[in-house]
Amino acid sequence: MIATRLENAEISLIRKLINKAPENAINLGLGEIQFPTPELLLKYAKEILNDGRIHYTPNAGLPELCEAIAGYYNSSHAENICVTVGAEEAIFATLFSYLDPGDEILIADPSYPAYKTIIEMLGGATVYFDLDPQNDFKLDKNSFLSGISDATKMVILNNPSNPLGISFSQDEIEFIFETCYQKNILIVVDEVYRELFLQKRPDSLFERNGNIIIISGLSKSHCMTGWRIGWVISNKPELIKPIITAHQYICTCAPYLSQKVAVKALSAEGLKANEAIRGKLRSNRDFILKKFNSFSQDIYILPNTSFPYLFVNLQLNDLLFAERLCALGVIVVPGCAFGNKGKGWLRINYGIEIKLLEQGTDLFLRILLE
Ligand SMILES: Cc1ncc(COP(=O)(O)O)c(C=O)c1O
Repeated sequence: MIATRLENAEISLIRKLINKAPENAINLGLGEIQFPTPELLLKYAKEILNDGRIHYTPNAGLPELCEAIAGYYNSSHAENICVTVGAEEAIFATLFSYLDPGDEILIADPSYPAYKTIIEMLGGATVYFDLDPQNDFKLDKNSFLSGISDATKMVILNNPSNPLGISFSQDEIEFIFETCYQKNILIVVDEVYRELFLQKRPDSLFERNGNIIIISGLSKSHCMTGWRIGWVISNKPELIKPIITAHQYICTCAPYLSQKVAVKALSAEGLKANEAIRGKLRSNRDFILKKFNSFSQDIYILPNTSFPYLFVNLQLNDLLFAERLCALGVIVVPGCAFGNKGKGWLRINYGIEIKLLEQGTDLFLRILLE
């Protein structure tokens, strides 16, 4: 009865683990920062609600939000944007707009699991290029080149990466962009973690020449996962037009209230709220690193450059260990959920209130000792 395109689409391993966890489990697994949305934005949302006029917006988004997003990229082309229902819809609408059955899409191993599922739901084939776990997940250039065929339509980069929390180096970017440019491959860059930097905000790849679509949103930067605001932007309007058409028939527009709040989030005071979030993440990170470092030399923590994940190697079976932890009340994500190259690793999200983080870390280390 169900459409063949959905036959192999399962719920993600992350969600499966969470569904199995005891009710009061400490969640260091889910890909969201569990702090409240900044007060400034909540207050503003109440003002909008009081006004009462909550209507459709243009399909591509409220003009004032498109202006604010363009401003964020120092662009004066608000028309080259489509505001989406989270970055997730941006990924879906982009693949929906460009992927024909049989097309191959290159993605990193390891990477955010939704890419593969959506590609395959739409009849495409996922081809992985390797990030090398023996070398702090640097790009394996040979693997990238050998992944390309006549059927390659697109490469999706996640920069900074979930689950790794690292960005591609300048050299890696040059290599990927030059290769794609030569072979006329569309480049999609998912930058949802760009604002969660430890030291220096990574440059957006928006400025680059070529067929590039940037995806981003406010879920991570402003603890706004529930508001569902994302976007696509490109230097080339012709790349965004088909996405606006797809988006119109997927959901008409992103919710009005969330779009209004998004304008505030991208204002100078809204961006200050992001600084406060990073401050909290930094102290959580210091806390968990100190705990792990004083515990054992056998825990290898990938040196990363963005919040809120630690990617750690404990030299044990990641899936079995994550299942055991989960049954005992701490959720973390096994690296295999992100691809073969993640096997043996765990992703730990420390973006949670400090009390819970303390309890979760203690429990984690206690179970590790058993
Ligand atoms: C890499 C990546 N892209 C996109 C998303 C989706 O984010 P949103 O909440 O904006 O839909 C996530 C969420 O975890 C993510 O990790």
